[in-house]
Amino acid sequence: MKKIYIETYGCQMNLADTEVVLSILKENDFTIAQNEHEADVILLNTCSVRDNAEQRIYGRIGNLKTVKREKPAALLGIIGCMAERLKDNLTEQNKAIDLIVGPDEYRRLPELIARAEKGNKGIGVQLSRTETYDDIVPYREDGLSAWISVMRGCDKFCTFCVVPFTRGRERSRSLISIVEEVKELSKRGFKEITLLGQNVNSYHDNEYDFADLLSAVAKVDNTIRIRYTTSHPQDLSEKLLNVMAENANICNYIHLPVQSGSNRILELMNRTYTIDHYLNIVEKAKQIIPGVSFSTDIISGFPTETEEDHLATLEIMKKIRYDSAFMFKYSPREGTKAYKMKDDVDEATKSRRLTEIIDLQQKISSEENQKLIGKVVEVLVENYSRKSVREYSGRTDTNKTVVFPVKEHISIGNYVQIKISKATSSTLIGEII
Ligand code: 5AD
Ligand code: SF4
Repeated sequence: MKKIYIETYGCQMNLADTEVVLSILKENDFTIAQNEHEADVILLNTCSVRDNAEQRIYGRIGNLKTVKREKPAALLGIIGCMAERLKDNLTEQNKAIDLIVGPDEYRRLPELIARAEKGNKGIGVQLSRTETYDDIVPYREDGLSAWISVMRGCDKFCTFCVVPFTRGRERSRSLISIVEEVKELSKRGFKEITLLGQNVNSYHDNEYDFADLLSAVAKVDNTIRIRYTTSHPQDLSEKLLNVMAENANICNYIHLPVQSGSNRILELMNRTYTIDHYLNIVEKAKQIIPGVSFSTDIISGFPTETEEDHLATLEIMKKIRYDSAFMFKYSPREGTKAYKMKDDVDEATKSRRLTEIIDLQQKISSEENQKLIGKVVEVLVENYSRKSVREYSGRTDTNKTVVFPVKEHISIGNYVQIKISKATSSTLIGEII
């Protein structure tokens, strides 16, 4: 049997795709290698969303060349977004690469690997309008948390984003097969499921929308926490908020990327909402789901961003008071609309603005966490803490990490009530009550 080793970069969609790839290859007589040295086929599941993500992967390809020198028969493959974006240019730049397979061609991996074994390049980079891998049960190790990709691709075409080009058009899996998958995960003892899609609010399987799906998934097992990501602020419906409110096991947590606080920049980004609309949704969500919290994505230094636009971003952060945020410097991506705009915010200004955004978020996270001191929160015990086996670590439904002393009869996978005694910007500390 041949051995496969996959390293995954980028978003959770890629993690979910890696499990689909492993499932396809295991069905075709591959076993999983523990590291690159024992593998016959090494795959990097890659991300193209920003240039630094790609640079990291080029660095890793450089390292892996030495592995191939030790074992010349080993094959090196690039799969995922970078494969789709750069196609056979990748093998031209880099002769060590034997396989290039985009996100919609994973079923062909066995055939493409066989081609590469004969000394040809195995290249599959067609995008599909229909591929959802709906019939493939992803390969998962036992554990507490699982993710399920419910839709693929994106039709939003935000002007900065390469995803519509690397992952193609939107398409959804069927509700029935997703619910079946959740039932299996429940039998195996999973306690947290995250439904994934680039824009889950556009989920539609010809009969059911995302609110229907979320409701059906939540009803399978009320001891499983349900999360989902990512929501687009334009499409978040009241029906969905109601489903969240009605089902206690759906986490009161919404990842709602705002990207910028300036209407002018939002328009240039083709985000299709205004800050007023965004604030309205947040208000509505707070009314319908008491205690709901938000996280976000922010891009600093988009073309033409002025100091005033930047201040508007800081302003929206102060208004919403996000629990957490993913914050990035704008990175021009070839093929996108924004690529044609002049990347005119200089590097020093981008860096300074990003630092201000990160510092503000840290202050807000820290203040919000301080407010929890003395309060009791429900936590799913997920693991021992990084520091000690005498401490457990877990998360609240609002995704905050909590560390607390181990107690007899309480084990990983249990839900516990924790009284918070201390807090930093990233962690809460407390005790089981
Ligand atoms: N530059 C910087 N950040 C980007 N993102 C997407 N494309 C870019 C880009 N070109 C960010 C957005 C998105 C998150 C997944 O990555 O904030 O929500
Ligand atoms: Fe990219 Fe916008 Fe689609 Fe998100 S919604 S994947 S940022 S195009």
